[in-house]
Amino acid sequence: MSDAIELRNCTDVEEFRACVALQKEVWSFADNELVPLRIFSLAPKIGGQVIGAWEGEALVGFAFSIPGMRNGHIYLHSHMLAVKDGYRNTGLGRRLKLFQREDAIQQGYELMEWTFDPLEIKNSYLNLERLGAIARRYNINQYGITSSPLQGFLPTDRLVAEWWLKSKRVDSLLSEGEHRPFSEELRIDVPAEIYAWKAEAETRQKASDVQQRNRQQFLEAFSGGLACLRYGRDENGNGVFVLGRWDETWSYAS
Ligand SMILES: CC(C)(COP(=O)(O)OP(=O)(O)OC[C@H]1O[C@@H](n2cnc3c(N)ncnc32)[C@H](O)[C@@H]1OP(=O)(O)O)[C@@H](O)C(=O)NCCC(=O)NCCS
Repeated sequence: MSDAIELRNCTDVEEFRACVALQKEVWSFADNELVPLRIFSLAPKIGGQVIGAWEGEALVGFAFSIPGMRNGHIYLHSHMLAVKDGYRNTGLGRRLKLFQREDAIQQGYELMEWTFDPLEIKNSYLNLERLGAIARRYNINQYGITSSPLQGFLPTDRLVAEWWLKSKRVDSLLSEGEHRPFSEELRIDVPAEIYAWKAEAETRQKASDVQQRNRQQFLEAFSGGLACLRYGRDENGNGVFVLGRWDETWSYAS
């Protein structure tokens, strides 16, 4: 299905309007929490990206990013990736990211970052395992508690994905389909039940306990120089972060 869908940079206000509508559909945000039309229109004019996935006239996915700056280095912050329900798990999310990468390299970027919820097993798997991002920074309650049910009204803790677009890690994964070897030092588990626990008020405390436990583990691991380098999932849908030391020197930390 994914191949019949055309990816392209959005330039027209009606295309941006479709992105805002799909954003609302995917996250169910209250109107005052939506990224507005004016920011979508602005982003491509200031070095950002609005990339749409179109099935004929219908928008079925988009990726949205804006430029950022750290310690004198310009990078791309990818704020949203959305695929319409019914079009998921066919490779479209990954295609949008790969299109974003090519476009970013053409614009001269070497780093794309985004944040993701470490309780989201699918997203963690896509980011670390299929795209080759790494994570070695953790933001506690980044956006405050939001109106999106996807978040289960928990603190919005986020891992920062760093996608070093020209790294050996990304290159070998995308060209050969293989992760470069490293020595595993720690595993951090996410139970498959997390989605169900987040969804119901009675079980939300269990999800919160996992979040608190993992938060401590990530913070300690990152302060000791570890990075999330792989992500595993088992036949029951449980997820696991695999941490080790990244052997490449890409960094904008200083
Ligand atoms: C995240 C999102 C964009 C991914 O889009 P998608 O088109 O479904 O992604 P893809 O099909 O390219 O890749 C998903 C991968 O996760 C795998 N996957 C699916 N369900 C999974 C699960 N429960 N646990 C682990 N992996 C899972 C798929 O098999 C696929 O891997 P594969 O390529 O090895 O088969 C889409 O799910 C979405 O819009 N979610 C809601 C919004 C969101 O969370 N956005 C990201 C944060 S901004």
